[in-house]
Amino acid sequence: MSGMLEGKVAVITGSGRGIGRGIAEMMASRGASVVVNDLGGGIDGEGTDTSPAAEVVDAIKAAGGNAVANGDSVADPAGAQRMVEQALDSFGRVDIVVNNAGILRDRIFHRMSHVDWNAVIDVHLHGCFNVSKAAAGHFKEQGSGSFVHFTSTSGLVGNFGQSNYSAAKMGIVGLSKSIALDMSRYNVRSNCISPFAWSRMIGSIPTDTPEQEARVAKLQQMTPDKIAPLAVWLGSDGAADCTGQIFAVRNNEVFLMSQPRPVRSVHRGEGWTPETIGEHAMPALEKHFYDLDVSIDVFSWDPV
Ligand code: NAI
Repeated sequence: MSGMLEGKVAVITGSGRGIGRGIAEMMASRGASVVVNDLGGGIDGEGTDTSPAAEVVDAIKAAGGNAVANGDSVADPAGAQRMVEQALDSFGRVDIVVNNAGILRDRIFHRMSHVDWNAVIDVHLHGCFNVSKAAAGHFKEQGSGSFVHFTSTSGLVGNFGQSNYSAAKMGIVGLSKSIALDMSRYNVRSNCISPFAWSRMIGSIPTDTPEQEARVAKLQQMTPDKIAPLAVWLGSDGAADCTGQIFAVRNNEVFLMSQPRPVRSVHRGEGWTPETIGEHAMPALEKHFYDLDVSIDVFSWDPV
């Protein structure tokens, strides 16, 4: 077993289940000491349960690794602070923060309540800020550190009924890029992963017809542990030159995702009026408009 993360300490949010659990176990197997944070709530963020985090800690210890459990919420700035302090108290340092915790409150936009909007923004976007902020000073002081944030093609591409989640996940992309820019002078790196994995988050897809059943069987191949190798590498010294990037992982494929750049421009020396925008600018630009794609339109082939 290679010790790619030997001597490093990782805080991994939402690592009691799903993708986070896979990352916690693989980081520990590569020598990292791990704070396994998980609130243990329902998919909508309601309730708490300390057992998922405790179970992951037991599994890591049984495999000979080092881990402690933390049951705080990433949405609580003081809780985020405690996660990082627990890493320092238990293992003496912090090198990697994986912002993976997440919930869903899907609603079609006109039925999206402020409660569902705020709950999702709080856990995803504010949660990423809270935990990153709590670690940033330590990273700066030691002149190193790696942030790995989880985004989604629901934001990067689009999806129905997820305005809260898509907005939060695109916010995380902007946050990650900003951290990468602001902290590169201290050798602190920040990258995003957009995962595809069969977890309880997508486990509610109906299987009422043979077609749906076949689709779900294919999706089930995308096990959460497929995401871990990239997260482990991003936390390692081998990734010293990798920052400000957005990756995606889908079963055995790893993607580098694009970032917005100008696609086409039009110029008119005398400036524009609403009329010339309609007559001149739009005919030139509209061939390059993006379709109203959702994630599955872009990732249109079966997971391989
Ligand atoms: P999951 O529901 O299996 O795991 C998320 C964990 O986060 C849960 O154990 C939950 O208790 C924990 N959590 C929720 N709120 C928390 C809080 N306030 N504080 C601490 N822990 C909290 O979900 P999964 O699929 O493993 O998702 C992990 C990340 O990947 C999420 O950020 C999700 O948005 C993202 N993602 C997942 C996709 C997938 O295909 N599974 C697709 C795109 C993004």
